[in-house]
Amino acid sequence: MFQRLPESGGATFVITVDGRAVTAREGDSVAVALLAAGFERCRTTPVSGAPRAPYCMMGVCFDCLAKVDGEASVQTCLRQVTDGMRVERQQGKRSVGA
Ligand code: FES
Repeated sequence: MFQRLPESGGATFVITVDGRAVTAREGDSVAVALLAAGFERCRTTPVSGAPRAPYCMMGVCFDCLAKVDGEASVQTCLRQVTDGMRVERQQGKRSVGA
């Protein structure tokens, strides 16, 4: 669904998403890396389990929450990728203390 512009450059990073290695670019937000890798959702809602995907890409909608390097409920549109980052798509509500 989403494709990078041909002129997008920068260093290449490898992150893992749910244990799967994914290539990202320097300057990508985690949400961009997820969408560019073909992930169609990054969390499910706590009440109904409905899937959610990044929407606003500017920190407003909270539909991009995921667990990043062990930190739950990270707004992935506001977090830049780093090499070796571990991302887990969030299922329902986060656990207390995580
Ligand atoms: S995509 Fe809306 S807050 Fe991240």
